[in-house]
Amino acid sequence: LPIAVLISGGGSNLQALIDKVEDGTLDVDIKMVLSNRAGAYGLERAKKHSIPTCTLSHKDYSSREDFDGEMVRVLKDAGVEAIVMAGFMRIITPVFLSAFPGKIINIHPALLPSFAGAGGQVEASEYGVQISGCTVHFVDEKMDHGAIIIQAAVPAMPGEDVETLTERILQVEHRVLPQATKWLAEGRLSLEGRFVKLASANV
Ligand code: GRF
Repeated sequence: LPIAVLISGGGSNLQALIDKVEDGTLDVDIKMVLSNRAGAYGLERAKKHSIPTCTLSHKDYSSREDFDGEMVRVLKDAGVEAIVMAGFMRIITPVFLSAFPGKIINIHPALLPSFAGAGGQVEASEYGVQISGCTVHFVDEKMDHGAIIIQAAVPAMPGEDVETLTERILQVEHRVLPQATKWLAEGRLSLEGRFVKLASANV
């Protein structure tokens, strides 16, 4: 499955995907890494592994729709068929959604629907949860709202520094995002309303 990974930052989730492709456990072709931030370290990670990169700054576009239209053009030209969002800090529009129907997944560092939005780890930590975690979900027109594919629980210590919780969650993200991407590539994920169905492996 030809995919693109969309990032805005460090790219440790991207690195986890790259590692799994290179060790042979994830059968996808990462055609491109696209970032909306030129300084994203994830772009360096891609270059180290000879993966084509593209940076599109949303500041250069007059509307979300124009920005999304350009992203779609670049991705389609690269032969991309599915999208993995890994720390991509943009809300996408139906222009983008309609270009990759049912083929866009995202990783969120909290147990949705709790703590949606950009500060999932901080809000969970400040709430004093005992259990946090991460969620891989299909992307729909709302933020952090699409049907859930995988969730993983991560113990939290109320009052701990948010950095330690963030790191603990990140280690689990690096397992569940490649797993969900594998299922997507194997065509084992289907949507029935809000529910994701995982077909049995064709062993
Ligand atoms: C991850 O925690 C992801 O869940 C959130 O942003 C962070 C990206 O980290 N959306 P990285 O760029 O993959 O290291």
